[in-house]
Amino acid sequence: MPAHSPDARSDTRPEAIRIGDLHKSFGSLEVLKGVSLTAREGDVVAIIGGSGSGKSTMLRCINFLETPSAGVIEIGGERVAMRPDGSPADRKQIERLRRSLGMVFQSFNLWSHRTVLENLIEVPVHVLGLPRAQAVAQAEALLARVGLSAKADTYPAYMSGGQQQRAAIARALCMSPRAMLFDEPTSALDPELVGEVLAVIRDLAAEGRTMILVTHEMKFAREVASHVIYLHNGRIEEEGPPEALFGAPQSDRLKQFLKSVG
Ligand SMILES: Nc1ncnc2c1ncn2[C@@H]1O[C@H](COP(=O)(O)OP(=O)(O)O)[C@@H](O)[C@H]1O
Ligand SMILES: [Mg+2]
Repeated sequence: MPAHSPDARSDTRPEAIRIGDLHKSFGSLEVLKGVSLTAREGDVVAIIGGSGSGKSTMLRCINFLETPSAGVIEIGGERVAMRPDGSPADRKQIERLRRSLGMVFQSFNLWSHRTVLENLIEVPVHVLGLPRAQAVAQAEALLARVGLSAKADTYPAYMSGGQQQRAAIARALCMSPRAMLFDEPTSALDPELVGEVLAVIRDLAAEGRTMILVTHEMKFAREVASHVIYLHNGRIEEEGPPEALFGAPQSDRLKQFLKSVG
């Protein structure tokens, strides 16, 4: 199935994530100057751009780790209720919607004083109220999937960065998220460990998972993304299917950027 139809009007797959004309300022610094994005179910949207262009902020606004200053956010067609200043109007709604998005950060963020298995069952058991046996079975299946069956009882400190990041991905999957959000998931890894994490993400893309992926791995973005967004200075400078964006970039800034990273 083509993950992204060239003709948006004929694309009837439900919307998983939509943001519209999103703005975000930190004090007097406007970091997002009106960005929009639609990810339908099964889409893999890659966000690329130079350091400080607003990629992380855009991603973090989607699950309200940052509070937008203005704009619209919809998760699964449900509009996030915001006050006029962009702050959340309904905390419960935010908590519920946030649980439907699996976030994976650059820095793994596993709980260091818990084993891998404990990391994976904590929220399903204590927040979602899943029976422990069921949570353990699910965690074990997901650990197998990311190649970490042997590490269930290991503490994060005794694993490589690549293993920790794969565990963090499995932990996010334990929430049965509607979509996965990745913020430079391989940029803290030694080069020889990048491949094993990309392989897991590639596998998730192949099974049709909706994902938004901030990455500086251009080859990977070109391979897995259905749609690519190039951010510059808080604006979408260019976007489109990967073949167009990487193969025939239009804007001079994007051309320069691709030269500088390639
Ligand atoms: N919490 C914050 N307070 C103030 N400025 C911030 C904060 N977070 C990010 N910024 C600024 O916003 C801009 C965009 O940051 P970010 O979204 O992290 O960019 P990217 O992920 O593309 O490197 C940068 O200038 C950064 O310094
Ligand atoms: Mg960032």
